[in-house]
Amino acid sequence: MILKLFINQKRETRNQKRTDDYQSCVPFTQDQMTIGPIDFGELPLFLAPMEDVSDPPFRLLCKRYGADMLYTEFISSGGLVHDAKNSVMKLDIYEQERPVGIQIFGGEIDQVREAAKIVDEVGPDVIDINFGCPVKKVVCKDGGAGILRNLPKMQAITAAVIEESTRPVTVKTRLGWDDQTIQIMEVARMLEDTGVKSLAVHARTRSQMYKGEARWQWLRKIKEKSGITIPLIGNGDATSPERVKDMFDQTGVDAVMIGRGAIGNPWIFRDTKVFLETGEIPPPPTWEERLQVVAEHLTLKCEWLGERTGVLEMRRMYGGYFKGFRNASSLRMAVIEKKTLDEVLEVLLNFDEKAANVRIAVSSLPTPIKGVKKATLPAAVS
Ligand SMILES: Cc1cc2nc3c(=O)[nH]c(=O)nc-3n(C[C@H](O)[C@H](O)[C@H](O)COP(=O)(O)O)c2cc1C
Repeated sequence: MILKLFINQKRETRNQKRTDDYQSCVPFTQDQMTIGPIDFGELPLFLAPMEDVSDPPFRLLCKRYGADMLYTEFISSGGLVHDAKNSVMKLDIYEQERPVGIQIFGGEIDQVREAAKIVDEVGPDVIDINFGCPVKKVVCKDGGAGILRNLPKMQAITAAVIEESTRPVTVKTRLGWDDQTIQIMEVARMLEDTGVKSLAVHARTRSQMYKGEARWQWLRKIKEKSGITIPLIGNGDATSPERVKDMFDQTGVDAVMIGRGAIGNPWIFRDTKVFLETGEIPPPPTWEERLQVVAEHLTLKCEWLGERTGVLEMRRMYGGYFKGFRNASSLRMAVIEKKTLDEVLEVLLNFDEKAANVRIAVSSLPTPIKGVKKATLPAAVS
């Protein structure tokens, strides 16, 4: 009981603090947002790069439902330079998804430079550098958020990518390595001075990983006090139409990037756009629409990754897709047991008699952008 009281009190203090932080907030009005030559209009919504999630099938669905900008998942510079199959396949982008960014990571300047050349040839609309990944095996080699401990090297990597690129270079990062070393204001200025065309900030430190709350007050601070003029893309915990609107209103960011809120819910882009315009959230997709999109997503994933991996990887999506539906957990259990595409489709399409007519709208991936050599081996070291 006492513990409960204490927790409630703590929660109230925290909520009060949050209100205080924003009390002086007058909602911002946003202008048209551009990255280099790309005009996004007002209040654009970006799909976050997400490993094993933001693949072509998912990106195409998010595009259909209104995402204004898409990114590939992060791709290892080392993998590209060494022509690793897993990395090279992630370079596939499609005309239908433009504007689309290819995101790379790496902590070795020369390797990232080579990777930037390879990526540039593929023809994305932007090349994005990942300076935010918190995973140990990435940060220990100065990749991802690891570089937040070495800003001169961050600057050198950024400059190298810009030198090799014929298109806008953008960056996605975090507030800092930990609470003691939040240097995002300096980082933002340094990146702009180096030539970066937009900055996406996941408002957590590396030490926070994905825990605790994203600290949106930093986004506002960057917008108001850093002096940068390039667009700022806010990211972290914008998980619903209301939260996206709150982020725009409370921080003044130029775009909001949605990650986990889109997993199993590509409709979040459509819903958010309607909400921003009218203040109303559209009714959720019908059971049929959901099943149709799940079936489509699964089919495309199997085409993209091969049947075995596609069926396996799709399993992490079902939770989001089936959320809120009657019998959701038994449907999830039933599909998770199945091993082939046909078996899963059979369960999906027969689960509810109302869903018997579900049709798969897109059963094949489009052709990747052509006329470019996707990956080349660098000159052998003599
Ligand atoms: C499964 C998963 C994979 C991710 N992979 C990447 C990635 O490849 N590149 C990247 O910059 N961020 C990656 N992130 C971080 C997201 O882009 C985003 O910054 C983070 O999830 C916070 O946004 P959210 O609260 O809207 O999810 C990943 C996050 C998740 C949950």
